[in-house]
Amino acid sequence: MISIIRLVQLSVFLCSIHLAISKLEFTNVKCFSHQPEFALYDYCFIKSINRTYKYISMKVKLLKTPVVKVKVNAAIFQRLNGYKPFLYNVTVDACRFFKNQKSNPVAFYLYNLFKDYSNLNHSCPYDHDIILEKLSINHVNTQVTDVLPVPHGDYLFHSDWYISDIKRLTADVYVKIY
Ligand SMILES: *[C@@H]1O[C@H](CO)[C@@H](O)[C@H](O)[C@H]1NC(C)=O
Ligand SMILES: *[C@@H]1O[C@H](CO)[C@@H](O)[C@H](O)[C@H]1NC(C)=O
Ligand SMILES: *[C@@H]1O[C@H](CO)[C@@H](O)[C@H](O)[C@H]1NC(C)=O
Repeated sequence: MISIIRLVQLSVFLCSIHLAISKLEFTNVKCFSHQPEFALYDYCFIKSINRTYKYISMKVKLLKTPVVKVKVNAAIFQRLNGYKPFLYNVTVDACRFFKNQKSNPVAFYLYNLFKDYSNLNHSCPYDHDIILEKLSINHVNTQVTDVLPVPHGDYLFHSDWYISDIKRLTADVYVKIY
């Protein structure tokens, strides 16, 4: 009995070391507009300033404003033999979420990764460009490293953005966890 408890303690200990040393790196970002006449990307890129400072920026132009109905489907993929669905696949009504962020813990967690770098910080309607400005990998790392319950490897954070129930935009961020 004692040895089983020891074993559990040991694996919890080893596991926490593993989690503590996990870090993320951006490896790629891809953006796609499904209806450029409705919403399009002005830009979408990763920039490496030096070995320690790397960031993502993107800007979306909304061409048919005001936007009053937004849904986001966010899913995580793990690269094994191609990218396979992994752990999370959530769909969030963004207008409702921004009225009460605590209503959806997964969305709240994901949103907190980038909220300081975005003007997506209010509820609908949206009648301005949407910007994610210089989201740095270091910032993301300080948010996630203590709680990353995932194995090292390559992952994809995939998101589809629906406006008035039609898929308008896709944003894919590729990361490596090491
Ligand atoms: C990387 O660039 C950032 C921003 O210019 C700077 O603050 C930082 O000191 C640089 N780090 C190194 C190791 O050069
Ligand atoms: C996420 O779930 C929805 C609804 O069940 C499904 O239609 C969609 O294909 C899933 N997406 C991924 C990436 O698995
Ligand atoms: C949203 O972000 C913008 C740009 O950072 C800022 O000017 C504005 O005050 C913020 N609005 C809210 C409601 O936090």
